[in-house]
Amino acid sequence: MAATPAGRAVKRLVVLVSGSGTNLQALLDEIDRVGREAYGAEIVAVGADRDGVEGLARAERAGLPTFVRKVRDHASREEWDHALAEAVAAHDPDLVVSAGFMKIVGKEFLARFGGRVVNTHPALLPSFPGAHGVRDALAYGARVTGCTVHFVDDGVDTGPIIAQGVVEIRDEDDESALHERIKDVERRLLVEVVGRLARNGYRIEGRKVVIQ
Ligand code: GAR
Repeated sequence: MAATPAGRAVKRLVVLVSGSGTNLQALLDEIDRVGREAYGAEIVAVGADRDGVEGLARAERAGLPTFVRKVRDHASREEWDHALAEAVAAHDPDLVVSAGFMKIVGKEFLARFGGRVVNTHPALLPSFPGAHGVRDALAYGARVTGCTVHFVDDGVDTGPIIAQGVVEIRDEDDESALHERIKDVERRLLVEVVGRLARNGYRIEGRKVVIQ
């Protein structure tokens, strides 16, 4: 599948968040540092599934348009998914980056943006998918964990893997200390991967992602 439209030198990113938005901030900082042409992409809007999160405040401080689509404001999950897809589509993205977005997108969203939605997950998939990747790795007694940047498919954290970063688990780790060390690696990985996808283009061949 050829996924990124050719022709646009600076790709348009819509970033989705649910929380503190430090991954979003890392993207903003890098684009600021090197310039959008050199990075190959710019963030054109930030969306969330809830109000009042620091991720939205970061977007507002950066002067970016934001939108919020809450599940509970819609009659069904499908209607929410439609509303989210419409809000994202209004910004005409080349790539959608789910950076700490704690909702599973639905069928319509994937039909419209499938192959163009990148997610970052705080564990080495396929181990420890879901909402508690850090806690689950710690509880299992794993000695290494990390983060995975992958394309989103219709499963929970099951899509083709683009890149992974490894973090050792220390005896004294609790969930928050471990998550902070993972996020350190994760932010750098996400910035690197999104830039390469945007600049080089890519193909998804089964489970393999080939960055050109
Ligand atoms: C990140 O560690 C991301 O992997 C995780 O939420 C954090 C968001 O941090 N996402 C998930 O757990 C999704 N299942 P941030 O809001 O500071 O970027």
